[in-house]
Amino acid sequence: MEKPEILIKKLTIEEKAHLLCGIAPMHTFAVERLGIPAISFSDGPHGVRKMTETGDSLSGLSDSLPTTCFPPAATSACSFNPKNLYEMGKALGEECRYYDIDLLLGPAINIQRNPLCGRNFEYFSEDPKLAGDMGIELVKGVQSQGIGTSVKHFACNSNENFRMDGESVVDERALREIYLKAFESVVSYAKPTTLMCAYNKLNGDFCSENKWLLTDVLRDEWGFEGLVMSDWGAVKDRDKGVDAGLDLEMPGSVYHNVQVIIDAIENGTLSIDKVDKAVLNVLNLVAKENASKIDECDFDKHDKLSMDIALDSAVLLKNENDILPLDIHKKYLVIGDFFKTMRYQGSGSSLINPHKLTTPEDAFNTRGIKYDFVRGYKVSEINQNRNCEDRAIKKAKEADLIIYFGGQSDYVESEGFDRTNMKLADNQIQLMQRLIPLKKKIVFVMFGGSPVELPFENDMSAILNMMLPGQAGGEACAKLLFGESNPCGKLAQTWPINYSDVINNKSYAAGPIQFYKESVFVGYRYYNTFNVPVRYPFGYGLSYSNFWYTNLTIASDSEKITVSFEIENRSKIGGKEICQLYVSGPKSDVYKPLQELRAYKKVYIEGKEKTAVSLSVNLNDLRYYDIDQHKWLLESGEYVFKVGKSSENIKLKQILNISSKDKPGNSLKQYKNHFSTKENLEAMTDEQFKHMVNYKVEPVVKSKDKYTFETPLKDLNSFWGKRIFGLANKMGQKEYKRACRLEDGPNKEAKKKSAIFLLKIIPDNSLRSFCYSSGGGLKYETAQALLALANGHIFKALKWFCTKPQK
Ligand code: BGC
Repeated sequence: MEKPEILIKKLTIEEKAHLLCGIAPMHTFAVERLGIPAISFSDGPHGVRKMTETGDSLSGLSDSLPTTCFPPAATSACSFNPKNLYEMGKALGEECRYYDIDLLLGPAINIQRNPLCGRNFEYFSEDPKLAGDMGIELVKGVQSQGIGTSVKHFACNSNENFRMDGESVVDERALREIYLKAFESVVSYAKPTTLMCAYNKLNGDFCSENKWLLTDVLRDEWGFEGLVMSDWGAVKDRDKGVDAGLDLEMPGSVYHNVQVIIDAIENGTLSIDKVDKAVLNVLNLVAKENASKIDECDFDKHDKLSMDIALDSAVLLKNENDILPLDIHKKYLVIGDFFKTMRYQGSGSSLINPHKLTTPEDAFNTRGIKYDFVRGYKVSEINQNRNCEDRAIKKAKEADLIIYFGGQSDYVESEGFDRTNMKLADNQIQLMQRLIPLKKKIVFVMFGGSPVELPFENDMSAILNMMLPGQAGGEACAKLLFGESNPCGKLAQTWPINYSDVINNKSYAAGPIQFYKESVFVGYRYYNTFNVPVRYPFGYGLSYSNFWYTNLTIASDSEKITVSFEIENRSKIGGKEICQLYVSGPKSDVYKPLQELRAYKKVYIEGKEKTAVSLSVNLNDLRYYDIDQHKWLLESGEYVFKVGKSSENIKLKQILNISSKDKPGNSLKQYKNHFSTKENLEAMTDEQFKHMVNYKVEPVVKSKDKYTFETPLKDLNSFWGKRIFGLANKMGQKEYKRACRLEDGPNKEAKKKSAIFLLKIIPDNSLRSFCYSSGGGLKYETAQALLALANGHIFKALKWFCTKPQK
């Protein structure tokens, strides 16, 4: 391919417009005349979803070739070990090369704002430092193979309900310090080839048309030189997108949007300079993605890597009287469908068809472990199943120790919708309530992508949280249960006691506009600051070893502060400890979380040995974002450096005076009171928050028609509107029924999950988002005809139906 700077001079306007719109489901546009090839993308983020011929971006998510399903982000972040992400990235890059894919759509580094987010499993953490570190290494790993990445979803895509038309309203401090921070780190330190903009609006504008986000911050401030693509169907007005800095529309294949660009250039509303910039970004990407294809891929090695990461990430939450590890020679009663049908990944666009699968059942059998199994509940159900329960209770009466496999299924947690509560499904709660009175020892092996309420925690002898452990999760689970490995993960997200303890529990995902009123008080920053008790704090996790911290010293120079201390393993078994450094800033008018994670390290220590550890933090990382001067400032004063086993188990601390020439602005003073107590924070009204963020609602341009291209399908209430919604639903139901008729097995499960995902996203889709995300499935002309029908304009509808689709 010739140099992009030369090619751009040879391209026609139409070719340029075409290059800015992808080809569904996963390609860029090729200009054969000039030898510009198409490049191909694939989801992402923790596996390569190489679609088969029958797969498309809306239905058929499950039709993909076998690849390695690594533990999703919410799990791997619990390893607090960025090296895992580098190795995972390298392996993903290799699998991309094997399948001739040029770019992997990941990592997803949005902040876990609330435990109910259906997509938390795909995101790393509630903490931007941890999310950023993990994202950096995944990008570096994938890109080390010459494969591109797409860091997503930029930005503030922290809920799934209303995902196509929702809006996140966030104050600038929270944006900079929490929601944009991880993106800034990844852009600065890993130089990803692309970013993917989110579906939602951010402070008034769709991310796909948000100039502040895509140009002012991303390019002008952070110096990003790569390409920005849209999420699948996130484009609204294509010309406005190009103007704001959105280079590539995906999945594309909607000729209407090519024409929109051409028209806008011709009538002067879109400058050719902007178009050329975007086209150059596309050409540069195409020129860069030329990794050589490989003919062999060591999938067994990747399976082992997947297992190692699962092992490094699983979190031991409870271990009363050291009941774990279990004796491999004894016989156990195993209850719970997850033992056979392990949940190891989340559902939606990241769904992987695993190359190999090891369930706990497989791993128990290869070890020759003696056990009786009863199902207890069915993974595919939510409601109580008395028959299943009765059989389990009968067996349980005779047992001494029960290993219970449970957690959240894809029916309650998936991309495309948020959970409705933080409880386990009713069938499992009912079963637990009958098991507990039998007073047996219960070891709960838990699966799922985000926190659940554990009202029965006191009645459990041990809880091992495998999260979503990837395809080799069963092997990792057996290793941990029987002491072949020592648990060493810690929680990357706080586990509240009850959902009512979560700051935004009433407003979260309740309506299309989300006011992020808690500002910077996200996750542990909220619980720690306002003394809200939690079930398990951020950074918490047990080990079969026993670690002691001593001898803290601090050294500083003009750039960084180094904290040194010793950790002793007082047990006989070697194990890994994740030590964490939290820093509290000086007391001042700048409201701040009580403490923030600034560094961490995972260290292996032999039994009865001691090791010296040093953690460093750059002075720059102690800054806060000043909303008057729009820049990062360092406050002078007393900083407390705290080293601990978790955010709530601080073992050593020391004060350090830091002086700075920066002069904080005054604006934060007027809002300080809102954040001085939990009660004040809870009492903040939407109006007060709108004032704080200077939120201006654009006057709605009145349309003479009741329904617009943007109206969610569920709101089309006219005679024809209801039928259109019904038709879309029928499509989803048909997929579901078809899946249910398949032979039992992983393929059926995957197809069912995809159908559930589809069914759940249909109501929030508009005719616009359906049309733009279906990659030509729903033609623009047909979508317009349906809109006219919904509005009762029969003749207009007929006219559209008769209009020949543009090329
Ligand atoms: C998801 C993205 C994904 C894309 C392509 C979208 O619905 O939000 O994360 O990469 O689909 O499958």
